[in-house]
Amino acid sequence: MLTFDIVIILRKPNATEFQQIVFFIEEFQLDNRDLLEHQFTAAFIEDNLVGFGRVREHTDCSEICSLGTLVEFRKRVVCKMIVQNLIKINPTNLFLVCIIPDYFKPFGFEIVNEYPDAIQDKKKYCTHELVVPEDYFVLKKTANA
Ligand SMILES: CC(C)(COP(=O)(O)OP(=O)(O)OC[C@H]1O[C@@H](n2cnc3c(N)ncnc32)[C@H](O)[C@@H]1OP(=O)(O)O)[C@@H](O)C(=O)NCCC(=O)NCCS
Repeated sequence: MLTFDIVIILRKPNATEFQQIVFFIEEFQLDNRDLLEHQFTAAFIEDNLVGFGRVREHTDCSEICSLGTLVEFRKRVVCKMIVQNLIKINPTNLFLVCIIPDYFKPFGFEIVNEYPDAIQDKKKYCTHELVVPEDYFVLKKTANA
């Protein structure tokens, strides 16, 4: 049997690709506040967008957020590659707020109960605006993966 590797390329989106990302952020009901093209790392297969994520720079910390993989490309480590890339370019004082903390632990994140104001604001936003049945957790990158 022949098998073919799929090549996933990570890079910055161009303006048109950024608009696609904005569309999927709405579709997946992710954090759509203060979206800026340069914040994003996107994943492509043959120039087709398959995933995205960004780092928001706050005054007192950085935050990984707005992570998404297109439905038909999930569970193929697209998000893992994006998170690894975002960590590499933003190594210090890095937080995220999510409902799937166990997914992020292998990257060196752990659940924390004390965090900067911007992250408190984010948790409040998630709890009140992005209403899901699961609880939100705040994680901080504390170790190297
Ligand atoms: C979460 C998401 C970004 C993961 O993307 P992905 O490219 O499939 O992720 P990876 O392939 O790197 O990892 C897949 C793993 O994610 C974990 N995972 C994904 N969604 C999950 C969920 N809702 N609950 C628990 N674990 C989840 C699983 O452990 C899965 O591992 P498995 O293949 O052993 O089941 C994708 O499911 C998505 O876009 N979801 C909708 C948007 C969203 O919820 N974003 C917020 C993330 S904090």
